[in-house]
Amino acid sequence: MSTLSYIHLLTPQMAAMQAFYQQQVGLGEVLPMDPDQVPAHFPVVEQRFEAERAVLLRGPGRQVLLSPSNTAALGEIGIEVFARRWRAACALLERMGARRLDWHPVFLEALALDDPEGNRLVFGRGQRHRAVAPRAGILPARLQHFGLGSARIGELSAFYQNQLGFALSDYVTGDDRKLRSVFLRTTDEHHLLALFANGRPGLDHFSFEAPDWNGIRDWGDHFARFGTKIFWGAGRHGVGNNLFIFVNDPDGRMVEISAELESVPFGRAPGHWRFDYKAFNLWGAAAIRV
Ligand SMILES: [Fe+2]
Repeated sequence: MSTLSYIHLLTPQMAAMQAFYQQQVGLGEVLPMDPDQVPAHFPVVEQRFEAERAVLLRGPGRQVLLSPSNTAALGEIGIEVFARRWRAACALLERMGARRLDWHPVFLEALALDDPEGNRLVFGRGQRHRAVAPRAGILPARLQHFGLGSARIGELSAFYQNQLGFALSDYVTGDDRKLRSVFLRTTDEHHLLALFANGRPGLDHFSFEAPDWNGIRDWGDHFARFGTKIFWGAGRHGVGNNLFIFVNDPDGRMVEISAELESVPFGRAPGHWRFDYKAFNLWGAAAIRV
C-alpha cells in the first residue's frame, strides 16, 4: 500500500544531470535545498562541492533529488505510504530499526531504513510540496518503479516480502534453478521493485510510466530531439507485459519509459518464468543483467 515517490541520485556532475532531468525528463520545477536544511541522513558533501547544492527537480507525477558527490550512486529510494496505512507502517518500520527523520525535503513525515544490501529506503507520509500540474509541452509519465542489482537477490527478495510486506508477482530462474530476477508489488501494479541477479549492487534502473503506446512514441521523438539514443527497445517485457524504451542519463544510469504495465488481481499466485530473452523482451533481444 505504497507507491514510488522519488529517486535520490548522487552525482559527480550536477550541472549535466540537472540539465538532463530538467530539459529531457521534464522535471522543470527546481527547488534548491538550503544547506542548513539538507537532512542529516544525506551523505556528507565534500569541501569542493560546497558551491553546489542538492536540488529537488519536479514535474507532473515525478520527482528526482540530485546531490553532489564524488561518484555516481544511489542516494535513497523514496516510497510514499498511503495515509490509512501510515500508523501501522511506522510501528513496523520502527520495530525493524528505522530512524525517524527530523525533516525531509519531500515528505511531511519520514523514516529511513537500509535494506540488507545497504540501499537506503525512505518511507514517508504526505508531500511537502503541491503536485506539479500537467502542462502543454511536458510529456506525461509518472515515476512508477525501480530496479536493484544484487549478487544475493534471494535474501533481498525475502527481506522485501517477509519484512516489508511486498507481494511476489513473478520470478525468473535459470536452467540451473538459480534465481535470476524477482518482481515485487505493493499495489495491483505488477512491480514497484524488480531485482536482478548480478554483481552490481545498487540501483539498476528506474522507470516512468507513460499513459499508452503513443506515449512511448512521443518520448522517443522527444529524446531524439536532444540526440539522446534509445539503447534498448522499443520492446515488450515478458514479465510485467509492459512496453518499454531505455535511455541513459549523463551518469550512465538506465532510465526507462514504460507503458501498459500489467495489473495483478489480488491473491494471484506468483508466476514463474524461464531465464531467456522472452522474460525480458518478448519482441527480441533481452538485456540480461549478469
Ligand atoms: Fe523496469
